[in-house]
Amino acid sequence: MNVSGEATKSVWMLDTKFPTAPRLQQDEHCDVAVVGAGIAGVSIAYELVLAGRNVVLVDRGPLLGGMTSRTTAHLAPVCDDGLGALVEMRGEELARGFQESQQAAVDRIEELVGNLAIDCDFRRLDGFLFPAAWMDDEEAAKQCDKEYAAAIKVGAIVERSKGVPLNGHESAPVLRYPNQATFHPLKYLRAILADFEKRGGRTFANSAVTDIEEGDQVRLKCERGAITASNAVFATNSPINTWVKIHSKMAPYRTYAMAFEITKRLLSDALYWDMDDPYYYVRLNPGSGKTNYLIVGGRDHKSGEADDGDARFAALEAWIRALVPDLGGETARWSGQVLDTIDYCGFIGRSPGSKNVFVATGDSGQGITHGALAGLLIRDLVVKGSNSWEAVYAPDRTPPAAFANYLSENLTAVKNFAEYLLPGQVKSAEDLKSGEGGVIHDGLSKLAVCRDRDGKLHTHSASCSHLGCIVHWNSTEQCWDCPCHGSQFAPDGAVLNGPAIRGLS
Ligand SMILES: Cc1cc2nc3c(=O)[nH]c(=O)nc-3n(C[C@H](O)[C@H](O)[C@H](O)COP(=O)(O)OP(=O)(O)OC[C@H]3O[C@@H](n4cnc5c(N)ncnc54)[C@H](O)[C@@H]3O)c2cc1C
Ligand code: FES
Repeated sequence: MNVSGEATKSVWMLDTKFPTAPRLQQDEHCDVAVVGAGIAGVSIAYELVLAGRNVVLVDRGPLLGGMTSRTTAHLAPVCDDGLGALVEMRGEELARGFQESQQAAVDRIEELVGNLAIDCDFRRLDGFLFPAAWMDDEEAAKQCDKEYAAAIKVGAIVERSKGVPLNGHESAPVLRYPNQATFHPLKYLRAILADFEKRGGRTFANSAVTDIEEGDQVRLKCERGAITASNAVFATNSPINTWVKIHSKMAPYRTYAMAFEITKRLLSDALYWDMDDPYYYVRLNPGSGKTNYLIVGGRDHKSGEADDGDARFAALEAWIRALVPDLGGETARWSGQVLDTIDYCGFIGRSPGSKNVFVATGDSGQGITHGALAGLLIRDLVVKGSNSWEAVYAPDRTPPAAFANYLSENLTAVKNFAEYLLPGQVKSAEDLKSGEGGVIHDGLSKLAVCRDRDGKLHTHSASCSHLGCIVHWNSTEQCWDCPCHGSQFAPDGAVLNGPAIRGLS
């Protein structure tokens, strides 16, 4: 699959039905403008329309075509980084608020599925935390004890249990989290968008917001029109309205997923994730006839710091075939990016220093629940001015306990700027074969040079249009990744992912 949308058919088992919407061609006025139509933007726009607000939802590309189309969609309220780590980082009270709010997000999705009778394979199921491949039972039991104690502290429902139906782990110490969930995100969101429009919400696609003017009213400029609103919400996955304040508190990680055919009933329908860091996970997606799809994911690395997608997919496949020896053939492979925050919770709320601009970001691998939750939280902030989970997700926070993470994640930018002094990775553009790219030293500057799959050579400045870090070639996705804050650019320099607003020059 390719971020430029070339082969997005592999995502969600060949589902590429992104809803259509007109391009913004004129000026629009509304109560709330929501920028970005992924799970976060759609959920926020929908909750606000239900609350009686006049809402415009605008996206740079097709609606739902961002990271949401790449998700593997577990709806697990349990903190992605582990509950023990969350309690240590945020303290018991805020960790409890996190658990409660993530649970509320899953409940809200279930409620909307029921209200609108959405056919999206939503189902409640168990989640299992099982030992990493390198752990013996003693080590795994210790880890279970730590997570169990933290789960009780934050009010998560958890049970100690023995074994999961994965080869070698049949009698291992595991934790069972009942009442987790999963669904087909695009089927769900298409139905929500249809109801949003039925209730008077307006949607615009292929209309990038390129300028933002804040005041009593917020004015968002697109190429062919502008939106003026009393409030604006940036749900662009990575916020495009602030340059540093939030971006220095989160880091982009690339994560990999694959789907395989599996005979129905070979593996019971549940969410499985192991105790490794970063963890591997397994889940099922319903298929037709006698076949389901098994989805496996993991092998994350910091964006731009590795370009070895094939080796990561091979490792994922080896890992899952050892656990499920009768697995069928591969049907899809893809990767995407998540934004890990320094204290494991998203940034959802009033944008730092703003009174009428809001953000939803910092998904930390739990972007689907964070997105649904953003709908509830930002609706309350706009309509009532407050919400009981505000402190958990406050975008202006920097907890002292997260200082070590803050320093280590920001070292990336320091290391990256040192690259300006190093020789380029590629000697000459002539050396590049189709699908290859690299940075070339050109006097005092660096050039990002790649040859696309059609053999066409592209040359741009290697300096990211966000804050100037040097971009790195990603041969799996055929794009340029910026290691500093996660911007991505197509071979022709066009911006694919924020925080950059403009392409490579
Ligand atoms: C492989 C993978 C597996 C995952 N698995 C899970 C999982 O199991 N559970 C889970 O909870 N999460 C998971 N995640 C994370 C989750 O999918 C994402 O965090 C979530 O979908 C992000 O949603 P979003 O609405 O914030 O962003 P997006 O879906 O990326 O939407 C943002 C939108 O903003 C638009 N935009 C950007 N800039 C502009 C601009 N200037 N003007 C207008 N529009 C703009 C983009 O075009 C895009 O459509 C996974 C992610 C990946 C990659
Ligand atoms: S994303 Fe910030 S410098 Fe590139």
